[in-house]
Amino acid sequence: MSVDVTSNFADRHIGPDPAGLNRLLEVIGVGSLDELATKAVPATILDGRDGGVSDGLDVLDAPKSEHEVLAELTALARKNTVATSMIGQGYYDTLTPPVLLRNIIENPAWYTAYTPYQPEISQGRLEALLNFQTMVADLTGMEVANSSMLDEATAAAEAMTLLRRANRKSKSPRIAVDADLFPQTAAVLATRAEPLGIEIVTANLVDDGLPEGDFFGVVLQIPGASGRVYDAAPLIDAAHERGALVAVGADLLALTLITPPGEQGADACFGTTQRFGVPMGFGGPHAGYLAVNAGNTRTLPGRLVGLSVDADGDPAYRLALQTREQHIRREKATSNICTAQVLLAVLAAMYASYHGAEGLTAIARRVAGYAGHLASGLRAGGVEVVHDTFFDTVLARVPGRADEVVAAAAAAGINLYRVDADHVSVSCDEATTAAHITAVLDAFGVSGEPSATEGSALAAAPARTSDFLRHEAFTRYRTETAMMRYLRRLSDKDLALDRTMIPLGSCTMKLNAAAEMEAITWPEFAGLHPFAPTEQTTGIRELVADLEGWLAAVTGYDAVSLQPNAGSQGEYAGLLAIRQYHLDRGDIQRDTCLIPSSAHGTNAASAVMAGMRVEVVACRSNGDVDLDDLRAKIADHAERLAAIMITYPSTHGVYEEDIAEICGAVHDAGGQVYIDGANLNALVGLARPGKFGGDVSHLNLHKTFCIPHGGGGPGVGPIGVRAHLAPYLPGHPAEPGLGGGGPVSAAPFGSASILPITWTYIKLMGAEGLRRASLTAIASANYIARRLDEYFPVLYTGENGMVAHECILDLRGITKATGVTVDDVAKRLADYGFHAPTMSFPVAGTLMVEPTESEDIAELDAFIDAMISIRQEIDRVGAGEWPAEDNPLRGAPHTAECLVGEWNHPYSRATAVFPMGKARAKVWPAVRRIDGAHGDRNLVCSCPPLEAYSS
Ligand SMILES: Cc1ncc(COP(=O)(O)O)c(C=O)c1O
Repeated sequence: MSVDVTSNFADRHIGPDPAGLNRLLEVIGVGSLDELATKAVPATILDGRDGGVSDGLDVLDAPKSEHEVLAELTALARKNTVATSMIGQGYYDTLTPPVLLRNIIENPAWYTAYTPYQPEISQGRLEALLNFQTMVADLTGMEVANSSMLDEATAAAEAMTLLRRANRKSKSPRIAVDADLFPQTAAVLATRAEPLGIEIVTANLVDDGLPEGDFFGVVLQIPGASGRVYDAAPLIDAAHERGALVAVGADLLALTLITPPGEQGADACFGTTQRFGVPMGFGGPHAGYLAVNAGNTRTLPGRLVGLSVDADGDPAYRLALQTREQHIRREKATSNICTAQVLLAVLAAMYASYHGAEGLTAIARRVAGYAGHLASGLRAGGVEVVHDTFFDTVLARVPGRADEVVAAAAAAGINLYRVDADHVSVSCDEATTAAHITAVLDAFGVSGEPSATEGSALAAAPARTSDFLRHEAFTRYRTETAMMRYLRRLSDKDLALDRTMIPLGSCTMKLNAAAEMEAITWPEFAGLHPFAPTEQTTGIRELVADLEGWLAAVTGYDAVSLQPNAGSQGEYAGLLAIRQYHLDRGDIQRDTCLIPSSAHGTNAASAVMAGMRVEVVACRSNGDVDLDDLRAKIADHAERLAAIMITYPSTHGVYEEDIAEICGAVHDAGGQVYIDGANLNALVGLARPGKFGGDVSHLNLHKTFCIPHGGGGPGVGPIGVRAHLAPYLPGHPAEPGLGGGGPVSAAPFGSASILPITWTYIKLMGAEGLRRASLTAIASANYIARRLDEYFPVLYTGENGMVAHECILDLRGITKATGVTVDDVAKRLADYGFHAPTMSFPVAGTLMVEPTESEDIAELDAFIDAMISIRQEIDRVGAGEWPAEDNPLRGAPHTAECLVGEWNHPYSRATAVFPMGKARAKVWPAVRRIDGAHGDRNLVCSCPPLEAYSS
């Protein structure tokens, strides 16, 4: 550590101190990190070989201290103006209960957890997500909801493709979409429909009914973008009579008052849960939702939490149909969603728990009441109100005066939505007050008190008569004490980064520093509506521009889009850019995407969604792409070759020497090169994909650039492109300055409110710090590989016997010899207090370990010791000392409860739960090993009745 302890953040972020680093290097057999760079990274791609950083990184400032950087960020934040937002259009102000802000959003136990792939140590967030699913299903009147979508517009797009899959009877490629959808929802639907050959017919369905002809589906929205509320039942019935299925976008708060679409026969329901306590944040992140009838559960995209039982027969949660989710079914994929919006889904679910049905209904009544007052005031003042039936949004007709009204409101600190020159819409929300209504009336030139006597503006809408949120998850935690303890009880069941290293390969579970997290809840970022006037958002726009420039420099690309809100969405946006590039050049036949067999499932899924055919390229026995097969595939597809998608360093954790040759071969054949940058933690400051052959890459800011995983989201998946693809970057109807492609997310800058995390990280680290982080991550992975190789053979290495930033431990031989599986080892690690590495990806029967740069040598050694001890346990099974079916590995994980009863095992209780003594703090798994198949056979995806827990 350097002497200046206050200013050198890199020393805090990077785990190993100088002595620790020396030990790493000594075991690896190199003298310095620079030597490691030349040994590990192929010379053909390595930048700054004399020990300097990548050429591009000289644009970064020298690193600054946390306090200096936060002062700069404060100055940027102050350039934003947080006005009262009454813009609506899918984004509403909300009052986040402080107990939820502090105990979820600001609590590393929640925000540093990973996707609950190891359910035994993830019961807390799984329960919270089951509450989310129950909340959505109850409010929409549907039977099954998934555990979040990326945003409302992408949820609508997923609903569209779900209807197509579900409607096996219809041969029609057409979908009828009501004209009163939010513009961003309609635009994302259009982006998604085109490559899939879906024809969107947009019409005023509510007034004019369904257009002539066949449709596989119909999409409605209630309330409409214009605020109108209507009875959807006749349209749903008419659509069904015509053989079409129906998806309805619905506002969950409104559904506390009006009949939910599920009770009217809708086949799917989609929307956002933003106004359930999640700040607007200039567009995100928020949890979208998608709900269906039970018959469509197995075609539902995204993650689904379900109830099952553990080895002792006790109820336990886990991701249902997990195999399907994890593999995203590759080229047979129905969706590419991997990272979702877990943290925000948890927040929304807890908001519902805290308020309960009565509280939510009261909030909805107040919101509707203010909207009603506003409408009556306008009418009394001679302003025409377009719709008679509405919930929160009032559409006023002001011929030729829209700009004037909007400007007058802005002068009073209130943003309204200018629909066109003659119409203004005003949305009320949880934060609306009587003073706001008076000020808005003033802006319309209407004075006087609005009449409170007018009947409800929802009188003509079908009222909600059914009960909702009656489960105790929504009735028991209404006091702050109860909620605080509930959140603590849940998070205590989970193993997050605040307790132990999480060595998940391909996931980069590095430090998410407190200073980086600080700004995300500042009102200057959290309080911005994504369509707020440009002059009010100067600070966040500057931050976006900074970040685009820095990420372009780091990756060697010419332009960057921050819009994609997950890696999968970046892949999709990048492939759309490639597709449009070919189309614009008249290469309309170029539709084939080559993908190595080792690729992450999202790659193939994204290619399919972008209208491409997937052709799998074989890998050699050393894990590298098989160049002969690649050349043969290129020759086979010649004129049809659109692109190759290749992950670098590979998902096998190696820097393939042939990368430049691979890119060259594809380019020579007229194809484009997509380099999946999810593994950029092994490249930053060392090599740039935009310079060694890529045309486009996505990066996962929730991996390399410190955005925490939040238990499975949010994420940010920006793409960098070379200049020729820049015109095709995602655009947005509300942001004309963006690229010429269609939008892939609801908001122009995607999950903008978490971008300060990455901005802060880069500022704190500077070019040198970033490079050191990459090299330390590589050193740590190689240290683990060297030390564990004799116990668990390392599957793949590069030219000099080096791995990149992760290594694959091959257990297949061990399993064959002893019967002990990767599952057994993964679960046993929980008994040792560790989170398992990535299991069976990208090679079945293996574990992939990625330590990152943030773990110090003590933690690395503790993990290695645990793995060695597990190997010794395996040997005892192999030697017959413990039976294959009854040993500490097969019995893992062990709970405190399982010690209490009779103990009939050939190993002791102490061996079960304190295999290495009591030195390491014990995090007790909440349940025993979970029977996934049982849960999949008996799907229960919302809160079960309480009797289920009494067995
Ligand atoms: C190599 C690779 N590509 C793409 C993705 C998809 O990213 P996301 O989960 O953000 O959608 C991942 C995620 O794990 C990955 O490891």
